[in-house]
Amino acid sequence: MFRDRWCGDIRESDIGREVNLAGWVLRKRDHGGLIFVDLRDRSGVTQVVLDPDVSEEAHRLARCLHREFVIVVSGEVRRRPEGTENFNLPTGMVELQADKLTILNEAAPLPFPMEEAAETAESLRLKYRYLDLRRPNLHHNLITRHRIAKVLRDYLDEHGFLEVETPILTKSTPEGARDYLVPSRPNPGNFYALPQSPQLFKQILMVSGLDRYFQIARCFRDEDLRADRQPEFTQVDIEMSFVERGDVIAIVEGMAKRLFRDILDIEIEIPFERLSFKESMERFGNDKPDLRFGLELKDMSDIVVEGRFKVFLDAVQFGGRVKAINGEGMARLSRKEIDLLTEEANSFGAKGLAWVKVKNGFESPIAKFFPEEVLRQMAERLGASEGDLMLFIADKGDVVHDVLSRMRLKLGQRLGLIKTGFKFVWVIDHPLLEWDEGERRFATVHHPFTSPADEDVDKLLSLDTIDINDETFTSRLSFFTSLQAKAYDIVLNGCEIGGGSIRIHRGDLQKKMFEVLRISEDEARAKFGFLLDALGYGAPPHGGIALGLDRLVMLMVGAHSIRDVIAFPKTQKAACFMSGAPSTVEQKQLRELHLKTTGFF
Ligand code: AMO
Ligand code: AMP
Repeated sequence: MFRDRWCGDIRESDIGREVNLAGWVLRKRDHGGLIFVDLRDRSGVTQVVLDPDVSEEAHRLARCLHREFVIVVSGEVRRRPEGTENFNLPTGMVELQADKLTILNEAAPLPFPMEEAAETAESLRLKYRYLDLRRPNLHHNLITRHRIAKVLRDYLDEHGFLEVETPILTKSTPEGARDYLVPSRPNPGNFYALPQSPQLFKQILMVSGLDRYFQIARCFRDEDLRADRQPEFTQVDIEMSFVERGDVIAIVEGMAKRLFRDILDIEIEIPFERLSFKESMERFGNDKPDLRFGLELKDMSDIVVEGRFKVFLDAVQFGGRVKAINGEGMARLSRKEIDLLTEEANSFGAKGLAWVKVKNGFESPIAKFFPEEVLRQMAERLGASEGDLMLFIADKGDVVHDVLSRMRLKLGQRLGLIKTGFKFVWVIDHPLLEWDEGERRFATVHHPFTSPADEDVDKLLSLDTIDINDETFTSRLSFFTSLQAKAYDIVLNGCEIGGGSIRIHRGDLQKKMFEVLRISEDEARAKFGFLLDALGYGAPPHGGIALGLDRLVMLMVGAHSIRDVIAFPKTQKAACFMSGAPSTVEQKQLRELHLKTTGFF
């Protein structure tokens, strides 16, 4: 037996006991006579003392120790002498007086100091991920992730959900990203796609009568990566039969409540607030609002037309908008600081940033274009008072929203307005379709299997063929973009942690959806024939959701990136610095797959 206790568990109640510990040398301090070793394992650290008077042999071996050597020690637990206690450490009142030490393995000089994670370049951390992962905070993140997954599994099991695995080698599911493709050797020229989500399979499981499915499922998407996006990530994927939106929402709220109680000992309030997509865009400028602070966007279009500022008048006249936020207490900013703010707005895509200080009246280069009364109305709508700075963006509606939503977040952080804690919100009633002008076709806001709202189903079914080249099409565009989806996203602290919908369960409606999306009958057959067939054999009404497990864990442990809650994450360029993936392969392998690379990259 190597050990009988964990390093982090030794307490005063163990004083006088003989224990065996195994682990890594975190630190060694050689005081000539006594040698102190901080011994670390997954659970924590215990101080080991090597005294030549207790064991000359152990003391001699201890002199050879370096950081991260692997050792076992045996000895008696004793109280630390008065004045040498470490009150910051759970084991800080005691130490192990070793009478035996064995070196199990040595460690090469370290590529970076183990203590200062923040100081080490991430590329180096990822290359030596096994060392990086020895750090207590990453241990903590992975342990918490394990516990979160366990609580979720238990909760779903108690609510009648069955965990079913679905294929990794499969056909493409359209979730909006590029596919990762895998060539099939026995079928030259044919490829599997790695699943962007188990969407189609979970719907098929409902047709099969499984009724309640879940899976902690790996998903693969070839898309631009960010702090909250990885090319492979994990979903808590859920599907239920005979449900409406409220049923899915209730399951997720119950699950979140249990999770936060069991893992963080926090009572969160359910039901969560619900915002329509439209309201979210109007008030916060995006569809994943952080409700932990105010700084809401206000429409100023109707007020600014009372003035003579051309930028504003033009924006409103040509179908754009003017909206503003109130920088609380920011009237003290100098011209230079405001210029920096303007540069920031420009980097977000604005053409400029108009501002008005509320300071002994109104102070602004554009004040001269507005009667005092109009400026007062602006301040009133924004809730701006003495000392505040009103910030305006004029542009097309979506540009205004995009810029102001990002400025809102930046200012919220800078002004220290964002409260700690957890604020959930459901964003519901999304549009079903959006028009892609570049491609000249509709795209779904969620995915093509999302049901339209009840009142829109008949409208869609009664459409004859949709010809976008037809003269009347432009006038009918607003009909399509006004259709609503039975979709819902769940947002936590401004991060989209999940999305789902009630699905189309009728074959005729699904076919019509494909038609609207300009997916030809042949293409629909080739890609989704199995789903269309299945819907024709008694598909029950069904719906579900998928939660991004990585993002949820990230928020629960307070990490800044999902890379800190994934054992072996990939870099911005979707590479693994540790294993060296992706890499070239042998010509022989390519020949077997009937593949040839062009060599022109
Ligand atoms: P969706 O595409 O919204 O829905 O994905 C669900 C959730 O998965 C997380 N997520 C990601 N996390 C990390 N890296 C990524 N690249 C990434 N992409 C998505 C997000 C997101 O909210 N099949 C549907 C679900 C359904 O309709 O039931 C789907 O996949 O937190
Ligand atoms: P100009 O008339 O271009 O000198 O702009 C006067 C002020 O209006 C400057 O502070 C600009 O930053 C600001 N401004 C210019 N374009 C916009 C816009 N689209 N929205 C908001 N402010 C703008």
